[in-house]
This record gives sequence, structure tokens and C-alpha cells, in this order.
Amino acid sequence: MATVQMTVRPEDLSQVPRGTERIPEPGILVIFGASGDLTKRKLFPALFHLWQANLLPQQFAIVGVARRPLGDEFAADMRSGIVDFGGVDANDPKLESFVSHIGYFALNFDDPNHYAALNAELDRIAKEKGIGGDRLFYLATAPEFFAGIVENLGAQGMAQPEKGRVAVVIEKPFGHDLSSAVELNHQINAVFHENQVFRIDHYLGKETVQNLLVFRFANGIFEPVWNRNYIDHVQITVAETLGVEGRGPFYEKAGALRDVVQNHMMELLSFVGMEPPSSFDSDAVRREKVKVWRAIPSIPILNTVRGQYGPGIVAGEHVAGYRDEERVNPESGTETFAAIRLEIENWRWAGVPFYLRAGKRLKRRATEISIQFKQPPLLIFNRMQSSGPCTEIQPNLLTIRIQPDEGISLRFGAKVPTTPEMTVCPVIMDFDYEAAFGKSSANGYERLLLDAMLGDQTLFAHRDGVEITWALYTPILQAWAAKKPEVFPNYFAGSWGPECADHLLEHDGRRWRNDLGRKG
Ligand code: BG6
Repeated sequence: MATVQMTVRPEDLSQVPRGTERIPEPGILVIFGASGDLTKRKLFPALFHLWQANLLPQQFAIVGVARRPLGDEFAADMRSGIVDFGGVDANDPKLESFVSHIGYFALNFDDPNHYAALNAELDRIAKEKGIGGDRLFYLATAPEFFAGIVENLGAQGMAQPEKGRVAVVIEKPFGHDLSSAVELNHQINAVFHENQVFRIDHYLGKETVQNLLVFRFANGIFEPVWNRNYIDHVQITVAETLGVEGRGPFYEKAGALRDVVQNHMMELLSFVGMEPPSSFDSDAVRREKVKVWRAIPSIPILNTVRGQYGPGIVAGEHVAGYRDEERVNPESGTETFAAIRLEIENWRWAGVPFYLRAGKRLKRRATEISIQFKQPPLLIFNRMQSSGPCTEIQPNLLTIRIQPDEGISLRFGAKVPTTPEMTVCPVIMDFDYEAAFGKSSANGYERLLLDAMLGDQTLFAHRDGVEITWALYTPILQAWAAKKPEVFPNYFAGSWGPECADHLLEHDGRRWRNDLGRKG
């Protein structure tokens, strides 16, 4: 794996939290599923970024928990993860002190006796390091273990110690359909009070996602036009060039709809669609998000498209089709691409279609939101030139680049100079995050981990939210499961997905934006 060297600027991170009061109390973070990819690639780099920025207390411990007997190997492995995936210099002077806080505990997730031993070990560490009773349990295991772990923590009295704040972070996917999500909520709330539960969606940790709220609500000029009177339609794309990267067994059960659409994309949609919250506290924000989701009528199956990639060329390299990936059924019916057309039936949005698409092995990596405005009457202008970039008068388009190449651009028409006619050509006004604020190697988990340690639930999903979004997508999942796709694979790796996804928009006289990314 290539090592990416970037300068981490602690001030990038310390600007986000509001000051020294944002440093959590001494405590222990316990990560279940610690031998997995997420822990090494995302969680430890993010924790180290917080340490670098002096946002963690001096007395704290991180205990990795997994089945394998790893011992000291674990801390060494996490150290290399921080360097390889966190953009951190291997000689960073703060690495040693950070690594000294890492421990490991081997545990069989189903064995109650192991939890008793873990509890005793946490008490021992706390005593040795002078830490009080604060514990944060992070569940980064495969989802089938979530309920069992929570139940065991409850049975050992680890969810409600007398002294200290105890909370649980649950990774996605939270359930695999409506009834499993309801059941999981029930199991979790039988042990933890809702204010101890942090259902994480790492998209909400991304600066560019949080900036959507600033962009909309801290600027005077966008909100007045942010509605059905001015907006023609909205497109949200989460395009990845990666395939399933060795996660075949997980992905076979998930598919694009469960993996990305029901969670990450619905979070993006809620930030685009919501009314201004009365404050940025967690209840006010969640209330507004839920109102958006509740206003979405059930999605007809005709407004959905699924796809699966076959072999193809991505970034100049030949890549295998999904069915040839490691540990994937050679006749798999799992979708690696999903596209949806939906509407939000409220006063702000009625009649404005939202088109969502997510896919693996697409042409370019880009997560973007495009707000296309209505075309004004243009008869007074000379239509277009016969060739070059000005052959078409295009409506205003606001593009929010969530990643990579983070920024925002606005397309508008300008007069082509030196021609006597009033010929209009589309031009772009661009804001680039890196140019404005410098590069940051934060991965989004920094903010969310810190918030969870501090007990701030604003950027986490509430039980209502996950149930409503599952309620929307469960009928689609059921309809897809009932009817195997006729032609799978139906798109080449390295393309923009199956042709039938184009029809979804063509039917409305529109087309997908395929010039994603700043350079188009
Ligand atoms: C995860 C999905 O939640 O998000 C992955 O499980 C996906 O399949 C990833 O690749 C995308 O995250 P990001 O931050 O790279 O857009």
C-alpha cells in the first residue's frame, strides 16, 4: 500500500471544535472489531490527529478488542496504519507518546465470561492511569455482532457504571431492512439509554457535508432561491472507482442501496432539503432532518435502477467484474450501482425531482451534489455558436463537491466578448477548499469521535431517522430480491453505470451530469 505523505496541521482540527472546553474527560475508548480495516485505516489515524491537535486528555487509553490473540503486535500495527493512512510522518515526535496509550484484549464476542474479564481489565487500566469511569464502546465489528456485544455489556453492568459517562458508538450498516433496524434499536435501547447511543455515519464528519448547513444558512443569497420556484432538479452522486476491495462477503449481503444510499446519501439529501433548524443542537437538527425524510412519498419501483459491474478499465488498468471478485458468488445478483428518483412532498420541494446514484467501479471518484436551476426565457439572446464550448445556453448550476477536490462552483452565462451579437457562453465561478483553507488530512472520524467522547449527538443518527430511511428503501429491497435482475452485469467497470440509469432522467427530459470533478 502506498504511503501518502501530507502535512497534518493540528490547527486545522483545533479550529473545528470550539476551544479547550471541547477536550473530553479522561476515559477509555474500547474498540470492538479492532483487527478490521476500519480501525487501522480510519479510526486510529483520526485519533492520532486529535492527539496531535491536543484534543485528547493526557490520561486516556484505547483498548482494541477482537478475537485474535494479538498482544503488542496490535499497537505496532496501528502505528503503521497511522503513518500509511493518516498522512503522518513516521518520525512524528508525538507518535511514541500516543502509541503508549494503546492496549489490546482478545475476546470471543459471544462469551459472557470474556466480558467480565474485559471489565476487570478496564478497571485495572483506569486505576493504573488515574482515569475515572468514562467509557466509550465503539462497535466496528461485522453488524451481526452488534446486538450480542451490547447485551453482554449490559449483563456485566458495563453500560451503567455509577461514576462516569458511558456511551456506545454503532457503525453502519444499522440493520439490513426496516424490521432488523427496529429490532436492533430495541435491543440497544434495552441496555443503553438513547442519549448514550451514537449511530455513526462518517459522511456527517466530513467538513464539506457540515459546510452545506453553513452555505445554506449563513449566507443571505442562496436561501431565497432554494426551493421549487427556482430549482429544476437536484442530482446527488456518490461515484467510486474502487471495487469491493476484499469485502466480498460483506458486500454480497449489502449492495449499493444498503451500503451507501440508505445512509450516506440520505444524510446528504437531508442537509440539502431541510428547513433551517432553530439551533445546531442535536434535537433541533435531527428534527429537521426527519421532517425531510418523512415528506418523501414511497418510491415506485419504476423509479429505481440497479446495476452490477462487469470487467473493464478503470484509470488505465484492466479490472475484474464484480462476479470475479474474491469471495463473491459467480452468479451474484447483488447491485454495485443504484439510482433512484424521488420527490419531497412539502411546500419547499414539491415537484422537484431528486436523482440519487451510487456505484462502485465508475469512471471517476466523485461525491457531488448538483442543484440545477430553472432555465430563464432566453429568446432575446442569440442562441449559440456552431462549435466550441458555447454551443448551448445552459441553466445555472450550483455544484457542491463533497470529495475529492472539495469546493463549490456556480455556472452562469456570460457574454462572449468581441462578438457583436449577444451570444451567451457558460462560465464557472469556483471556490476551492484547499486553496482557501490549506490541505487537511482529517478523514471525518476526528470530529465524530470527539463528539461521541463529549456526548454531543448532533452529527449522529437517531432511532427515528434510521427507521424512516429503512421504511423508504425496504420495499425496493424486497422487490429487487423477489425478481433477479435479467441482465447482470449491465455496466462496464470504468463507465458511468448502466444505460437504464440514463433512461431514468431521459424520461423527464434531463440527463446525468457526467462531468463531475472540478476539471470536469
Ligand atoms: C462506506 C461503505 O460506508 O463508505 C464503502 O461501506 C464506501 O463501501 C465508503 O466505499 C465510501 O466512503 P468515502 O468516505 O470514501 O466516500
